[in-house]
Amino acid sequence: MHTTSHEQDTLLARRQRVLSPSYRLFYDEPMHAVRSEGVWVYDADGRRYLDAYNNVPVVGHCHPYVVEQVAKQAAVLNTHTRYLTDKPVELAERLLGTMPPELGSVIFMNSGSEANDLAVRISRLVTGNSGIIVTDCAYHGTTDLLSGLSPVTGLPTGPGVFTVSLPPKMADAGEFRILVRGALDKMREAGIRPAALLVDTIFGSDGVVSGPVCFLKGAVDDVRREGGLFIADEVQPGFGRTGAGMWGFARHGVVPDIVTMGKPMGNGYPVASAVLRRELADIFGRHQRYFNTFGGSTVGCAAALAVLDVIENEDLVVHAAETGAYLKDGLQNLCKRHDVFTDLRGTGLFLGVQTPSGDVAARIVNALRRAGVLIGAAGRGNAALKIRPPLSVSRSDVDYLIGTIDDVLNKEIER
Ligand SMILES: Cc1ncc(COP(=O)(O)O)c(C=O)c1O
Repeated sequence: MHTTSHEQDTLLARRQRVLSPSYRLFYDEPMHAVRSEGVWVYDADGRRYLDAYNNVPVVGHCHPYVVEQVAKQAAVLNTHTRYLTDKPVELAERLLGTMPPELGSVIFMNSGSEANDLAVRISRLVTGNSGIIVTDCAYHGTTDLLSGLSPVTGLPTGPGVFTVSLPPKMADAGEFRILVRGALDKMREAGIRPAALLVDTIFGSDGVVSGPVCFLKGAVDDVRREGGLFIADEVQPGFGRTGAGMWGFARHGVVPDIVTMGKPMGNGYPVASAVLRRELADIFGRHQRYFNTFGGSTVGCAAALAVLDVIENEDLVVHAAETGAYLKDGLQNLCKRHDVFTDLRGTGLFLGVQTPSGDVAARIVNALRRAGVLIGAAGRGNAALKIRPPLSVSRSDVDYLIGTIDDVLNKEIER
């Protein structure tokens, strides 16, 4: 179907009339997406865009096997966790099989926000403490509690929340520990004890901070020594994206107390989870009940099981490592030739390219959209480009991505 720009303007006007102004559209010229397949998204004019941004369709948009498994299950049974059904048990077993043995219990929900919200609630319940440490560009979700733990939104931090200012490049693995010690000191001065350190293990909203490897470990030890837990937010790095195993925390040589996940878990179908140490689950279960109507629904679990099957069958973690290294090489070459690329970070298929300012990054993001490539920006002042194609991205897709970025920088940014 062909839409005129007039039709798109009409849709935009209708949207503005009925949807809350709190919504924001990507790009100066919004893209009217109508279908997607693999790494490609098609607009209403039939033009295709390489999706190098969205970490939700982790195994590729509309992966036929995931679509088939969702449709099959939807036609048979879709109910909740108060009935005895196979799928949530099967999914919990499969997820635990990807985790260190210390992590032994699973709770399902629908979104990363719900997972983090519950993780914070459990950490406060089991430790009896209230303090939470997050990074100062963190985003952890959309609930009232998590808005106070998501400084990147510009909203005030909540009670008992202490932030650390993460440099995009750390001199050594001890630097983060020193920062967290500072936060623990401030907490002590305020008469507060730590319930948890909560971080995205690839620090996506902080502009992708991937190294040095193991930089979380010392900080986690210090937080635990003072009675707090470590919550690993795997909503962005999880499901193989870093190419170093299924979970981002593995790169840091630490075993979390609670792991939260969402976005890629159902390849677009809403399903999320908190995976926790058995002893924490036991304490929580003794004190409180948890029921989430759609969390762990039969169809949601079927979607997540299908995603795990595809990651395994298509060897996507190894593919993310190899294709990610190829992409990083290509970006490294661009850094050598283009002054606006001042630093390159990341691992696997989660890469961040530093630019001098949010303005420059926005110009690049918008120019790429016009040229048929979708990426985003993040970090302090939104000055870092965030690049995260589906894990199924091929080398020829990467060549197209690098070629288009090169072209855009030459013709539109560095003229
Ligand atoms: C690191 C991180 N945690 C949590 C969330 C919240 O997930 P959701 O939007 O599924 O509630 C997000 C969403 O962008 C995220 O990036």
